[in-house]
Amino acid sequence: MQIFKYERGKEDTVLNKAWWKEAVVYQIYPRSFMDSNGDGIGDLNGITEKLEYLKELGIDVIWLSPVYQSPNDDNGYDISDYQAIMEEFGTMEDYDRMLARAHELGIKIMMDLVVNHTSDEHAWFVESRKSVDNPYRDFYIWRKGKDGKEPNNWGSCFSGSAWKYDPQTDMYFLHLFSKKQPDLNWDNPKVRDRVFEMMNWWCEKGIDGFRMDVISLISKPEGLPDGIPGETGYADSGCANGPHVHEYLKEMNRKVLSHYDLITVGEASGVTLEEAKKYANADGSELNMVFQFEHTGGGPEADNHYGKWDSHKMPLPVWKKILSRWQTGLEGKAWNSLFLSNHDQPRSVAWFGNDSEQYREISAKMLGTCLHMMQGTPYVYQGEELGMTNIYFDKLEDYRDIESINYFKEFTESGLMTPEHMMKCLMLRSRDNARTPMQWDDTASAGFTTGTPWIKVGPDYETVNAKNEMADPDSVYNYYKKLIHLRKEKDIMVYGTYELLDPEDEALYVYTRTLGDQKLLVMCNFTKEEQEYTVPETFAGADVLISNYPQSGAAAGARKLRAYEAVVLETK
Ligand code: GLC
Ligand code: CA
Repeated sequence: MQIFKYERGKEDTVLNKAWWKEAVVYQIYPRSFMDSNGDGIGDLNGITEKLEYLKELGIDVIWLSPVYQSPNDDNGYDISDYQAIMEEFGTMEDYDRMLARAHELGIKIMMDLVVNHTSDEHAWFVESRKSVDNPYRDFYIWRKGKDGKEPNNWGSCFSGSAWKYDPQTDMYFLHLFSKKQPDLNWDNPKVRDRVFEMMNWWCEKGIDGFRMDVISLISKPEGLPDGIPGETGYADSGCANGPHVHEYLKEMNRKVLSHYDLITVGEASGVTLEEAKKYANADGSELNMVFQFEHTGGGPEADNHYGKWDSHKMPLPVWKKILSRWQTGLEGKAWNSLFLSNHDQPRSVAWFGNDSEQYREISAKMLGTCLHMMQGTPYVYQGEELGMTNIYFDKLEDYRDIESINYFKEFTESGLMTPEHMMKCLMLRSRDNARTPMQWDDTASAGFTTGTPWIKVGPDYETVNAKNEMADPDSVYNYYKKLIHLRKEKDIMVYGTYELLDPEDEALYVYTRTLGDQKLLVMCNFTKEEQEYTVPETFAGADVLISNYPQSGAAAGARKLRAYEAVVLETK
């Protein structure tokens, strides 16, 4: 890592420059990206075909959602062999070809590391369930029942109990996710060694990093105590940021990560600012950064009893406060990841912007501006660069996602919600909103497949598609391309310090970035109404760095921001 000295504002701080801070990451959900053989399922050869598209967009790193062998209970997040490729996605040779081609193009590949749990079809679990004295028994978390019931009251993230009874040995195993995703026992040093061995194997192959699935959950609280039950009768496991998580990640760092030049990001639901400073410490002892999720949740009036299944949105001042706390809280101490969407979230333009025909493009560009101008490493989820929207399926049969289907059943069968209400919740929140096929062109199935896609294609693909947008200089695609390229040229976008202005403004998100005597002013209108704003004097005579509307006239003083307008001013 190179160390550069920077004069920043009043203080004289040393910035640790690193390539992964300057990179833009693009997430691929392989099942929905590109199908090369007409079976309706995206695959590795499909990705290889589209690498040039990504090169053109300008991204540096691909985060590849799981491509390992898996029975697909949770679309690949249930892995039965970490060193084999899912048959539907191709072969290890296809993988090697994809990796080599990506590297030729200067694109790095970050693998999804799913090691909180395996599939119940993984050889370790197949052994483990055989008998209490099997050498693999302690690879997983087995407990006796309590009074004929589950060992504790923890709920699974995918509804129901987090325990499954196994008659073979008359015991229960823990699964924080689906019944087919038993949790690994990280307290067992043999488990850690096998995981590290596998990670080294991938690193030796030449991969460039890991996105670590629910890594904040790997260390379970001592004694697995009951939690406080919610509306459904089940409790949160309290596994987030467990007692040994930092110890295990430091060990992983010593035994694997520190031997290679990698980009690492931990998915850390339930992470606090204080915890993030440990996970993503600038001393490099654990990971580069974490994904925190505070800004993706519902508002303060959100009905927490139903978890994410709530339609309340966060008022802008609350949202700004959260993001700003992360911006300033990690400054100089750790590093932020920046994201608005991924394969578990609804489409960002639908949730944070406005996906009506009139405002879809302008608000997608505004959201891109707001995020990419912050300090941290930005992540673009496939299709976000096109402004792809939610799918709004109105029939349960159209959904494929285990989480959506399970919760629909649990909530409607128990009478907690009416089917009509739950369908609305799914339209807003279901993970399938982000999992519909990537829209490449206006031919059948959006050019994703020549066969029948595994999940329906968005109805707007004839207009919202890569081919159209690449040809249109005013498209969301070309705007994202510009944002991504700007980051390459502007150190201030990467390293500048962040300051929120007008925190209580309910319509505008305005902040500055500062590096030495250089400053950026980022102004974003989050509403469809025109808003007045007085640009601070510091920006008199400043240039427009980027905007989603044509700009003219003087920069400083009173100005009006149009519907979803975003303007970035740069001092000379
Ligand atoms: C993470 C993944 C999600 C998956 C879950 C269980 O949250 O992003 O897609 O279902 O972990 O592996
Ligand atoms: Ca295929």
